[in-house]
Amino acid sequence: MLNYPQVALDFMNRDHAEFIDLRGKLLDLLSAPSDTAAINTLLDQLLEHTRHHFAEEERLMQETLFFAYPMHKGEHDNVLAEMSARIGDWKQTHDNETLREWLERAVGNWFVNHVSTMDFVTAGFIAMKSKNAGCQTYQESC
Ligand SMILES: [Fe+2]
Repeated sequence: MLNYPQVALDFMNRDHAEFIDLRGKLLDLLSAPSDTAAINTLLDQLLEHTRHHFAEEERLMQETLFFAYPMHKGEHDNVLAEMSARIGDWKQTHDNETLREWLERAVGNWFVNHVSTMDFVTAGFIAMKSKNAGCQTYQESC
């Protein structure tokens, strides 16, 4: 079970829970001999979910002139490149154990670290900007 904090923006918390759910489903499928097509579909969903989530964070960071945007965006780009490469490798080799190990350790560690640091600070900044602007666009509950 991964232990990560809730951040100040609802959509980010929802997306983080969805990411963990997708990762968990993949880990379950990969730990037993299983359906390659189902793994394939979930990997595509994970990549699409992550792309969409990062793009949404980046849009808000730009709108609010977030001071650490280049650093946060740089990490997103690295993660997407790594994820695409890992998925591409799996599609060629169907090496479930290598993929499972990566998802379990590297992705798990990265996720907890990223949410606890960059996302936590970013969400707090955007929520504060939203409050100052009368809670218009960035936050559902204010
Ligand atoms: Fe992020």
